[in-house]
Amino acid sequence: MSRVNRVCLVGGSGFVGRHMAERLAARGVRVIIPTRNRERAKTDLIVLPSVELVSADVNDPAQLSALVAGCDAVVNLVGILHESRSGDFRRAHLTLTEQCIAACKQHGVHRYLHMSALGAGPSAPSEYQRTKGEAEQRVVAAQASGLATTIFRPSVIFGDGDSFLTLFARMLALAPFVPLGSPGARFQPVWVEDVAHAFVAALDLPQTVGQCYDLVGPDVFTLRELVQLVGKVTGNERPVVGLPDGLSRLQARVFGMLPVKLITYDNYLSMTVDNVSSMPYPAVFERTPSALEPIARQYLGNATPRGRYQAFRYRAGR
Ligand SMILES: NC(=O)c1ccc[n+]([C@@H]2O[C@H](COP(=O)([O-])OP(=O)(O)OC[C@H]3O[C@@H](n4cnc5c(N)ncnc54)[C@H](OP(=O)(O)O)[C@@H]3O)[C@@H](O)[C@H]2O)c1
Repeated sequence: MSRVNRVCLVGGSGFVGRHMAERLAARGVRVIIPTRNRERAKTDLIVLPSVELVSADVNDPAQLSALVAGCDAVVNLVGILHESRSGDFRRAHLTLTEQCIAACKQHGVHRYLHMSALGAGPSAPSEYQRTKGEAEQRVVAAQASGLATTIFRPSVIFGDGDSFLTLFARMLALAPFVPLGSPGARFQPVWVEDVAHAFVAALDLPQTVGQCYDLVGPDVFTLRELVQLVGKVTGNERPVVGLPDGLSRLQARVFGMLPVKLITYDNYLSMTVDNVSSMPYPAVFERTPSALEPIARQYLGNATPRGRYQAFRYRAGR
């Protein structure tokens, strides 16, 4: 496999992309990161050597094509959890994937890495999972027509800058108790560095071409256990009141109508199936995935003042 010198990281301005960009930059790879909002994205990305943050809307095929020209690989990380308008999931997950594949073909880019999600499938319960599943089908078809593709399907991803556990940390700092919808939903959280490692390693590993990998951590947690763990590591332990199914649905529908979306009905539907894998973290990447608690202690410790104190105590062994 020829060396990858220049990568277009589509959707690279977000949580996962930042960690991936750091790894690529550390290897001297030139990284092009398009963003629709350079001001919001620039904080930590512009300090990375060899990373170029470009104002662009990748939904426009002409702009995407210009970014992909001259690259050795395209990594597609674009994904959304909530729709603002009907059809957003299809546009972000499916149409953009088709456009990335078309841009690769147009410019003779041979390598394409695709971010999907555990649970994705054309007949999955939520629109998020269905559109991710349809996008996977397009990637498999592109592989059959000569593009060297690899698909990654992580469970929920945790790490510095995540929104999932950090959101719980902020809620626990404010609320006297947590009324939790879908408390029994199961996840196998994977550390963002383990995800970034797999993507970057795949660029050098010919045996990963044509493969689809689940990316999971070593442990399975229910949603209730995750909230309790966040309470423990931030020093904000609160009673967690698990809602029965009917109230979980209602909560998701009501919260989904608020301007800031903590959860939507589509998220609720995603959680009706276990987000766990029957396969361990792939051996081909020669890495042992990290457990959640010690990592969460480090970065969530900084989310609240009390958490910072807890993290100091933990590090001091007290
Ligand atoms: N985080 C998780 O727990 C998790 C778990 C499983 C799978 N995934 C998948 O991993 C990928 C990355 O997740 P993340 O947490 O890093 O997400 P993120 O922080 O929200 O970043 C996603 C990036 O995609 C770009 N983007 C979003 N919607 C777009 C649109 N309609 N058109 C063009 N660009 C768009 C955004 O770029 P700009 O706004 O800067 O243009 C943003 O930087 C997603 O595909 C997600 O589905 C994430």
